[in-house]
Amino acid sequence: MILSGSGNQHLAHALASTLDEAVVPVRARRFPDGELIVEVDTETELPAMVTLGDDAFAIDDRAVVIASTVDDRALIEVLQLQDLAREGGAKEVVTVVPYFGYGRQDVAHDPGQPASARAMARALSAGTDRLVTVNLHEPAVLDYCTVEAQNVSAVNALAGGIDLDTDDVLFVAPDAGARDLAAQLRDVAGRGRFDHLEKHRIDDTTVEITMSETSVEGQTVVLIDDEIATGGTMTTATRMLLDAGATAVHAACVHPVLVGNAYTRLRRAGLAGLVATDTIERPVSTVSAAGAIAEVL
Ligand code: R5P
Repeated sequence: MILSGSGNQHLAHALASTLDEAVVPVRARRFPDGELIVEVDTETELPAMVTLGDDAFAIDDRAVVIASTVDDRALIEVLQLQDLAREGGAKEVVTVVPYFGYGRQDVAHDPGQPASARAMARALSAGTDRLVTVNLHEPAVLDYCTVEAQNVSAVNALAGGIDLDTDDVLFVAPDAGARDLAAQLRDVAGRGRFDHLEKHRIDDTTVEITMSETSVEGQTVVLIDDEIATGGTMTTATRMLLDAGATAVHAACVHPVLVGNAYTRLRRAGLAGLVATDTIERPVSTVSAAGAIAEVL
């Protein structure tokens, strides 16, 4: 039985059909004071093994709660869904957080700051028996969980979404942290080479990138990163690769956060195309992370 946050309906249904399970119809609304409430949609037929009495909701099965914590609202939603499942008597509650928001705040980057990802891990652990994430920015964050926690990779799905008419591809990570993703993508694609660039972050939206010694002259390049947020990293990398003679630069990312005009920035920088998964539902989410998640469920 799957309970989905409002931002992950596509992925929830993809997972449901892979696992042959049902999605509980849940909707979210706000009270006049701004507080959020999730509730079972009583106007929709409920799947078998779910009952709604006068004052109770019962789920006689394992409950998989799935919600990317893209923002504060989504975090409240997932905590409420966990409570709904647990109090409804689910035999086991598994929480899937496909995009683990605040994951980049894995440490206190400056004095006087919290390690927000640690706080997230602890809060999410409280209402579940098990936690699953997808390409978490810093997987060591899961060590803060107080329940069994596992990070899976959606790189196989990304590889399936990249359609190039050449085998001579260079898979490039824009920073050392994403080098493993470039290596995995090359391995799954079964062709080409991989490399990484060096990135130095100037501020929230600006980065400085240094090219590696690998020549990109006449080369088709696929940039790969765990997430694209403002697009600053990929925009800078795309321009540098094209300036250095790359024939075409494509990009792939697991989590298309795509803040504001990020997609426009990328295309204006000369990016030929972007493929992403549905951990966050965007028009570029043309492949699904459902397979990777289903394998561990
Ligand atoms: C950070 O190291 C991540 O892997 C991404 O490179 C970063 O989050 C992208 O952010 P932006 O799109 O804002 O440059």
